[in-house]
Amino acid sequence: MRKRISLITGANGEVGQGLIRDLSDSGDAPLLALDIKPLKDELRPRVMNSIEGNILDQDLLDYLNSQYEITTVFHLAAFLSTRAEFTPEAAHRVNVQGTINLLQLAIEQSQWQARPVKFVFPSSLAAYGLPDLETKAAAPPLKEDDYNQPITMYGCNKLYCEHIGRYYANHYRQLAPQQESFYVDFRSLRFPGLISAYTVPSGGTSDYVPEMLHAAAKKQPYASFVRPDTTIPFMAMPDAIKSLLALADSPREALTQTVYNVTSFTLSAEAAAERVRQGFPDAQITFAEDRNRQHIVDTWPAMLDDSAARRDWGWQPDYDEERAFNEYLIPVLKEQYSS
Ligand code: SER
Repeated sequence: MRKRISLITGANGEVGQGLIRDLSDSGDAPLLALDIKPLKDELRPRVMNSIEGNILDQDLLDYLNSQYEITTVFHLAAFLSTRAEFTPEAAHRVNVQGTINLLQLAIEQSQWQARPVKFVFPSSLAAYGLPDLETKAAAPPLKEDDYNQPITMYGCNKLYCEHIGRYYANHYRQLAPQQESFYVDFRSLRFPGLISAYTVPSGGTSDYVPEMLHAAAKKQPYASFVRPDTTIPFMAMPDAIKSLLALADSPREALTQTVYNVTSFTLSAEAAAERVRQGFPDAQITFAEDRNRQHIVDTWPAMLDDSAARRDWGWQPDYDEERAFNEYLIPVLKEQYSS
C-alpha cells in the first residue's frame, strides 16, 4: 500500500515553512516535505516524513512514486530571481527541468490513481517585463496576459512553467492513442513580493523590504539595494499561504484560467522604510542602489490586477498595508527578536 500524502517541494523555503504550519494545523492529508536542505527541526513533528534531496534526482522521484499516493503537489522549489542570474543555466535546470520532473510524477500518479492529482505552482510578478519606467508609471494594474516579456532567467522560467503546466493539464500527449487518461489538475498563482515576519528570503529581488524590516528588528543598519521611489506590489506571508490553500481547495469548475494574479498593497521602498521607522524608531535605513537589481525591479509592475482570482474563487487578502505592518510584521518581529 502506498501512503497517501500531500507533497511539498522547497519545504524549507519561506512559503514552504508557512504552508507546513497551516496545513499541519488543518489536519488534512499527511505531509511529505522535500528540500535540498534538511527540514528545520521545529517543522519535523508537523510532517509525516521529510526527505533531503534534489528534484533533479530521477531515482528519488521514482522512489516517491513507488512509496506514496500523492493527492496534491505544492511545487515551491526554485532559484529566486537574483540568485538565478549568477548561474542562469543551473537555475533553468532546477526551475524548468525540476518542474517538468514533478509534473511527470504527478501525471504518472494521476493515471494509476485514475483521478487528477492537484499541482499547485507559485509563479511571480517576475513573469512580467515592462520596457521602461515611463511605461511602468503609466500602466494600469496588469492582468495576467499583459507585458509577458520577462528579463530574468527566473521570470522566463516561471512564465514557461505556467504554460507547461497548462499543457500537462489539458494537452499532454494529445496525439498518442489512449483509452482513458487522467491529467494533472494544474493551478498557478502569480505572487507579488512576499514579506514574512519569521523568515528572510534568499536570493530574491524583492528582498529589500523583508531585509530592512528584519535588520531594524535586530537593531542592525540596512542599505536598500533599490532607490527610494522603487514601487512594486507586496503581500504578507499569511495571505500568500491563504491564497495557495484557497486556490488548491477551489472546485475545478470554478476556475476559468490556469494562472491567477493575487496581490494586496503597493509600496515604494521609501514608504516601506517609513513604515519600518514607525515600528522601530531607531532603524538606520539608507539607500545604495545596485544597478543590476534595480533594473530587474524597474521592469516589474507597480500593481497587479487580481480581479480574476476575486471573481473565480473569492480571493481577498486579510492584510492591507496598515494591518500587514501594524498587526503582523512589526509586533511579531518585536516579539521574535526580543528574546
Ligand atoms: N520575490 C521573488 C524574487 O524576488 C519574485 O517572485 O525573486
